Amino acid sequence: MNTLLALYEQGGDLVYAGESVTQLMHAWQCGRLAEKSDASAALQLASWLHDVGHLWVNLEGTPTLRGQDDVHESIGAQVLLPVFGLAVSEPVRLHVQAKRYLVGTREIYASKLSPDSVRSLQLQGGPMGPQECAAFEAEPFFADAVKLRVWDDLGKKSAWFEDTRHDALDHLMQLMHRVVQARVIQI
Ligand SMILES: [Fe+2]
Ligand SMILES: [Fe+2]
Repeated sequence: MNTLLALYEQGGDLVYAGESVTQLMHAWQCGRLAEKSDASAALQLASWLHDVGHLWVNLEGTPTLRGQDDVHESIGAQVLLPVFGLAVSEPVRLHVQAKRYLVGTREIYASKLSPDSVRSLQLQGGPMGPQECAAFEAEPFFADAVKLRVWDDLGKKSAWFEDTRHDALDHLMQLMHRVVQARVIQI
């Protein structure tokens, strides 16, 4: 957990590639949107950490402009699974697929995507077709992934960060502890 926190301490001020928010602001906004929606602690944490793969890989500039997909959703899920379990790692793993699903099923959704999300959509396989949509709906964490995706798209506001940096990271650490403790009790 300290490694994850350090990624946001060190890389939190990096501008989210192609967007007008930093990595920390985007993570905080998604976490806050999940919290406001009364999401479980696990889904709040998944929302906070869904793009941790970007920081883990840390490719320079805006990879999508070079036609590069950093597969951050897979990397993030691999990092999160052993620490927090499937309730956190699966919505993270599926959040890119959820974009492909929403573009394939909701006409208005595509028109609201940010420019970088539109670029990455093509690299990530474009809109899902009907068969892919049906398979995606059968994923155990389908609903959480779609919720996370909606917060992901909303969490790119350039001037929304109500916490101090210290308090935001402290909140993240507390949330990580809550999820780990709940998981220990379940096991
Ligand atoms: Fe992402
Ligand atoms: Fe994101």
